[in-house]
Amino acid sequence: QYKMILDLDTGIDDALALAYAVGHPDIELIGIIASYGNNLTDVTAQNSLNLLDLLGASDVPVFYGASHSTTTDDFTVMEVSKTIHGQNGVGDVEVPTSPRQLAEQSGIDFLIDAAHEFKDQLVYLPTGPMTNLALALQKDPSIAQLIGQTTLMGGALTVPGNVTPFTEANINQDPEAADVVFRKQESLTMVGLDVTLRTLLTKKHTAEWRALGTQKGQLYADMMDYYIDAYFNLDIDKRGAALHDPLAVAVAVEPDYVETLPLNMKVTTDRVSGDYGRTIGNTDKLLDKTTSKAAVLVDQDRFVSDFQQMMLTVL
Ligand code: BDR
Ligand code: CA
Repeated sequence: QYKMILDLDTGIDDALALAYAVGHPDIELIGIIASYGNNLTDVTAQNSLNLLDLLGASDVPVFYGASHSTTTDDFTVMEVSKTIHGQNGVGDVEVPTSPRQLAEQSGIDFLIDAAHEFKDQLVYLPTGPMTNLALALQKDPSIAQLIGQTTLMGGALTVPGNVTPFTEANINQDPEAADVVFRKQESLTMVGLDVTLRTLLTKKHTAEWRALGTQKGQLYADMMDYYIDAYFNLDIDKRGAALHDPLAVAVAVEPDYVETLPLNMKVTTDRVSGDYGRTIGNTDKLLDKTTSKAAVLVDQDRFVSDFQQMMLTVL
């Protein structure tokens, strides 16, 4: 079993990633770190607590992570996220409030301690901005080699971004932090828009969740339908909504869902260049050992069908 930390900005597809991880027999979820992104950290932390309780995983602690990017506390992009994930981050669906408290330790210290304790066994999986890992690397650079694998949802290598023509939302929130992560963190896999936009869930799938007749099936279907409607109304995709974050979790434990390109990467941090926030090959490290890879192809039919089976078991 992998020891997994999910770093979530919950978020509807983050909520799907959480359910998938809770249900996966090869994953032991040791904690959630809450990030800003789709909403403020206070809101995403509470969403994660509420969803864990709903899913019957009340033993998983939630740690408070960064409340804003390493360079700014401007939240303009968050307003765009709210049009996709709702004002409350979970499609304006009312998930019962968890009576639990957040863990006392900071998310950054929790990540550092887990890296030292579990080493190779640890899978760190950010599905929001890369701020928490960048801060942890600054505090303890040794975790770059210690963490077994880091599989992140973010970036776009071969397709346009979803915030600007060059940037994907998670990278766009904190390009400087993402650049630190790409340059320093070893055993890194980027699961970006190149593959996630090909994995679409539809209302046919959510109708099956609803038909289970459970409270979690109903609430998850309501959330997901909000997200599918947003994709339709904002003309992102008329067929369904992308399984960004759950695909990253799946790839971490079953890498053969995707084909990857070994590549040292960086993020453009020059604000006047016009491609600020772009994930791109790091030409300074062309001759170095390759420490990261980017997913470029996905077996979408197999993943969507396996994902659906997992959700029908969990919900
Ligand atoms: C990513 O941005 C967030 O809004 C989603 O939850 C996902 O992690 C997609 O670009
Ligand atoms: Ca997310």
